[in-house]
Amino acid sequence: MGKTRLPQKIGILTAGGDCPGINAAIRGVGKTAIVKYGMKVIGISDGFSGLIHKEYMELTEHSLSGILTLGGTILGTSREKPFKSEGKPKNELRKPILIKEHYEQLGLDCLVCIGGNGTMKTAYMLSQNGLNVVGIPKTIDNDIWGTDITFGFDSAVNIATEAIDRLHSTANSHKRIMVIEIMGHNAGWLALYSGMAGGGDVILIPEIAHDEDVIMKYLAKRANDNKPYSIVVVAEGIKVPENEESPGRYFARKIQSVTGLETRETVLGYIQRGGTPSPMDRVLASRFGAAAANLIAQGKYGKMVAHRNGSISSIDLSEVAGKVKLVEANDPMVLQAREMGTCFGRC
Ligand code: F6P
Repeated sequence: MGKTRLPQKIGILTAGGDCPGINAAIRGVGKTAIVKYGMKVIGISDGFSGLIHKEYMELTEHSLSGILTLGGTILGTSREKPFKSEGKPKNELRKPILIKEHYEQLGLDCLVCIGGNGTMKTAYMLSQNGLNVVGIPKTIDNDIWGTDITFGFDSAVNIATEAIDRLHSTANSHKRIMVIEIMGHNAGWLALYSGMAGGGDVILIPEIAHDEDVIMKYLAKRANDNKPYSIVVVAEGIKVPENEESPGRYFARKIQSVTGLETRETVLGYIQRGGTPSPMDRVLASRFGAAAANLIAQGKYGKMVAHRNGSISSIDLSEVAGKVKLVEANDPMVLQAREMGTCFGRC
């Protein structure tokens, strides 16, 4: 039997919203591929758009040095979805074909896709089109199916928690209600973790339908019980009446008008995604990167690296694609917070 050829050249791309830890993951894959396996590594610019336009750079041990602690992504990113063709002009339909052509022209043995849910779906579709693909899950939202945790999340929890901590003292001084809107897309993980870590009195997440009346009564009771202030943590994905510009602003206005309590809002925004990764994210991203390189060396494609039950493993992209990991309404964290008196907007 002839020996199977070890993959010699791989491409790495980063797609979707950026988050802390992406560069640590690029470094993890790249260094392992170069140092352990002697592969050539190229970095594709700006997500899938870089493969459509054949824009890339060579990554060497030297160029991968010094990026571990950097926020953002040295490769650039975009929200290009090459398979989304509905209502698009004809030339757009060629994108998956161009990607395959350029993958072959570049002589890639595998494409590493670092991204969130959308990226994992595209990665899966590319693998169905015959490309060798390995996915690495990243997002501050922590909503990727098949992994207990994504890198970016821990850094974002730290940032959001610090913001909530800082709101406590100003809320106390002015005896105000402080509403803080936290990112997370349609998932409540970031609001739940930072809300619990920051001692939010009310935590509203998309997975738990809220009743405004319950929230107003809860806040009014706190004021009557001589609690000088309250902190309301609102996930950006919760449902509010149409045409309201942001759930945080909506709630701040509503609380003040219904309860008469002075209320202010903070929409934390992109600060949650920027800057240097936390030590936990650096470690997780590096380990995901190394695991991806090891999968490639073993010829195990069509997979996403994952962190499950305390260890690094992998899962088929077919199982991940098209799914979202949301908070269960009876998640132990939710139940424990409720037992401490935290209001989730429902009796
Ligand atoms: O997925 C990460 C995330 O930051 C979400 O929390 C947020 O809803 C979204 O990206 C914002 O996306 P954009 O960068 O396109 O504004």
